[in-house]
Amino acid sequence: MLKTFLTHNELDSASSTFQASIVIDVLRATSTIVTALSNGARFVIPVEKVEEAVDIKMVQPDLILSGERNGIKPQGFELGNSPLEYSKQVVNGKGIVLTTSNGTKAIQKAKKIAENVYIAAFLNISYVVEQLSAHENIAIICAGNESEVSYEDTQLAGFIISKLLERKSYSLSDSSLIALRTWEAIKKPDFSGTHSQKLIELGFGRDVEFCQNIDISPIVPICSSEKIVSMLIK
Ligand code: MLT
Repeated sequence: MLKTFLTHNELDSASSTFQASIVIDVLRATSTIVTALSNGARFVIPVEKVEEAVDIKMVQPDLILSGERNGIKPQGFELGNSPLEYSKQVVNGKGIVLTTSNGTKAIQKAKKIAENVYIAAFLNISYVVEQLSAHENIAIICAGNESEVSYEDTQLAGFIISKLLERKSYSLSDSSLIALRTWEAIKKPDFSGTHSQKLIELGFGRDVEFCQNIDISPIVPICSSEKIVSMLIK
């Protein structure tokens, strides 16, 4: 079964559990996590609140304190939520504590409903699908924007579903069918949704372009206790 949650708020009332879940926040949290790990960051600790991130940084001063609220880096933070900030020079060999408005909340919620939690972006889609296809019962979690559906997240969910179906058959929830049909109608990223527009207005147009790249990061981030690490791919 492939069950898609179109926003992280839907998880608040979820009663089922899954073998695996895959968290998607294309703009920009999961694209940032994939980029940071692929540029050599040792791990990312995703937390819900700004204060939690600050507390963790106080105890572990070597960590990079990073994230956003309303798209902007909070005061006192070292990095924002732009994947382009997470270059090799900046993150290689480092640990990161990250808090974002929706993406890191979605990751925390995903951990409550599934044993194995993976992180996806367009940047690593094929690599993540390869790992996911070992599972039968999968939750595909789009972060969305609180209770608003995200056009970009829904596209990636549909792309993942189409790739999983190329490998074997799964039954689909109606929300999975919606995501699949959305992807089939466009077949390439269409970043014309409201969050893309907001990011462009904030001056993050290069992020919007970068996050549309497919398979440039050959890694699979997986949650291991409180950290996200890069899985070794055979
Ligand atoms: C989020 O978690 O809501 C996003 O990643 C926001 C952003 O684009 O920075």
